[in-house]
Amino acid sequence: MKKRILSGMRPTGKLHLGHLVGALGNWVELQDKYDCLFMVADWHALMSEYESPKDLGENVRDNVIDWLACGISPQKSTIFIQSRVKEHLELYAVLSIITPLGWLERCPTYKEQLREVKGRDLSTYGFLGYPVLQAADILVYKAQAVPVGGDQLPHLELTREIARKFNNLYKEKVFPDPEAVLTKSSKLLGTDGRKMSKSYNNTIAISESPEDIRVKIQKMFTDPARVRRNDPGHPEKCNLHSYYTVFAPGRSKEIAQGCREASLGCTDCKKELAQELIRFLEPIQKKRKELLKDKLKLDDILDQGAKKASVIAEKTMSEVKKLINI
Ligand code: TRP
Repeated sequence: MKKRILSGMRPTGKLHLGHLVGALGNWVELQDKYDCLFMVADWHALMSEYESPKDLGENVRDNVIDWLACGISPQKSTIFIQSRVKEHLELYAVLSIITPLGWLERCPTYKEQLREVKGRDLSTYGFLGYPVLQAADILVYKAQAVPVGGDQLPHLELTREIARKFNNLYKEKVFPDPEAVLTKSSKLLGTDGRKMSKSYNNTIAISESPEDIRVKIQKMFTDPARVRRNDPGHPEKCNLHSYYTVFAPGRSKEIAQGCREASLGCTDCKKELAQELIRFLEPIQKKRKELLKDKLKLDDILDQGAKKASVIAEKTMSEVKKLINI
């Protein structure tokens, strides 16, 4: 029996190259080794976007289209939307009852978001419970492993603690101890050299048009020590070079040499990179277009996914309810 994995993404906007190189690329590989459930965490997105949820539904579908276009396969994996499986909220309520407030108030991601996120009121009852819903997502499928980035480790730790508390209270090992499968952290930074993130406005979307890719790459920061065209460059310090290693590894050595010898200027280097990236994304974007045309196919994939996920979730919930006499 393959181990079961669950992971999720919040549909807060278009997916970008950071998602592709980080989470998604990893998911695609995991599909053959594990029994995978991949979930669009729309309730989680609502917890921070509740003031303007108007794009939520569209983001959900657009993200799933990106997943499929990048190689997540409905034949291999269960692809579903969190809100379509009602047991997530049901287990969330049960786990809320047994989770001490202090565990949530001490959670580093919670404290950081309250401090850092501006322009949105996150001091709500629901947002404090964010990790409890995440625990419910994982535990309702009794997932043994969870692929996450390092920033999510505190949530996984909380999940384990909540699971243990439930098992201890009701004297039955209903929930396994899910372990983290750390995503290789993406070396890909945003176009300005900071972490690629929608809130920094430095992303290149998986669905970005060739014209916009050219413009965005043309504006990228390069080696700051290379002031004049004839100055030798330092590819290891240049963000463009890391893009080459990911999207055109066959070209990266030669490009680096041209940069070091100053035989290749940054403008030409950018022009070629834009071309390489456009070529890299071409098959993905082609698949996206096909999927966008076939609304019924996507509906069907999501219906099937919700059905498959529900079978597992319902079974867990009936075990849980038996133990708490509800
Ligand atoms: N909190 C995760 C994030 O922001 C998304 C998420 C929701 C998730 N539920 C999950 C990830 C369950 C893994 C497992 O990235």
